[in-house]
Amino acid sequence: MKIVSIIGARPQFIKCAPVSRALRKDHQEILVHTGQHYDENMSGIFFEELSIPKPDYHLGIGSGTHGAQTGRMLVAIEEVLLQEKPDMVLVYGDTNSTLAGALAAAKLHIPVAHVEAGLRSFDRSMPEEVNRVLTDHASDLLFVPTGNGVSNLAHEGIEKGVYRVGDVMVDALFFNQELAGRSDILQQLDLDAGSYYLATVHRASNTDDEQNLRSIMAAFAALERPVILPAHPRTRKYLEKYEIRTEENIRLIEPLPYLDMLRLMSQATAVLTDSGGVQKEAYILKVPCITLRENTEWIETVEDGWNLLAGADAGRIIAAVHQMTGERRNQQKGHSAHYGDGTAADEIRRIISAFDKE
Ligand code: UD1
Repeated sequence: MKIVSIIGARPQFIKCAPVSRALRKDHQEILVHTGQHYDENMSGIFFEELSIPKPDYHLGIGSGTHGAQTGRMLVAIEEVLLQEKPDMVLVYGDTNSTLAGALAAAKLHIPVAHVEAGLRSFDRSMPEEVNRVLTDHASDLLFVPTGNGVSNLAHEGIEKGVYRVGDVMVDALFFNQELAGRSDILQQLDLDAGSYYLATVHRASNTDDEQNLRSIMAAFAALERPVILPAHPRTRKYLEKYEIRTEENIRLIEPLPYLDMLRLMSQATAVLTDSGGVQKEAYILKVPCITLRENTEWIETVEDGWNLLAGADAGRIIAAVHQMTGERRNQQKGHSAHYGDGTAADEIRRIISAFDKE
């Protein structure tokens, strides 16, 4: 088959690496980069590090309001699809690039496959939730990481084409774990294992809202260890705009490449984040996580006791950190292969090949 894969934002580069490797064994893949993320350390570096093939098309869309960004992508992706006439379009996750790709394909009656389907935060104020729901309803093949995801789709009446395959981020993590072990990022940052917190903040609800951003930074400042904060460009932009001064224990650094990020995460006392992927990686690495949101798509991490939802309230965040790090019973916590065993990409290849023969 000829498959057009659409990617554009940092987590999609990580997800596409194992899938692309698997798909290319049996199929022809045309890779389209929308340009949603464009800084070298948000994009280029991942292609090099994860040996992702060079995109066949770079659409150079860049930033904008949701409507403008998604709309520009829709126009440009349609042009590519009209030219390439693929048998299938593959989209990942929940970004504006995901929705634009799914919509462009569905309107041209090209089958859509969605990797990371079925996840829900049940919070429609998140742009990602809107993107996920709409993409799932436009998809023919839905590759779902978890059992909860399959139930979510069933509640919305989607049962056909649904496959629980596990999570491709686990594939990426297992594939790269050994290499990450060789990263010297701790030495570079002069950190000892288990002596710091690792934080990421980039959700619009936390960065664009001055009160939430101030409150999160106040919580970090009150923690007794260094907080390493690889800052998303959006976070830096709003820290400057609101003139929020970060205290000395908060170390604002550039976004990290994947292997350094995995290494730093694996040795952290705890992780504080509003990212989806980071919550899950912390769980797999058995590092306690405090989530700076009121909800999560990765509910299994909370149910097993590895993740606490603390929102953006400083008092709650500090209390959650103390609770999660004060416990000496980490080893007794539940821990299952909710997210699969690292073979999701091969399952996806197998199902796509079978779809071709239908
Ligand atoms: C997007 C996704 C989110 C995903 C995240 C991963 C949507 C709606 N959101 O959010 O689901 O978890 O990516 O990082 O698609 N910017 C740069 N350089 C870059 C990229 C972004 O400076 O390379 C700045 C721009 O000022 C832009 C802002 O960051 O306005 C936000 O970027 P955008 O692409 O809108 O979404 P993210 O917040 O990154």
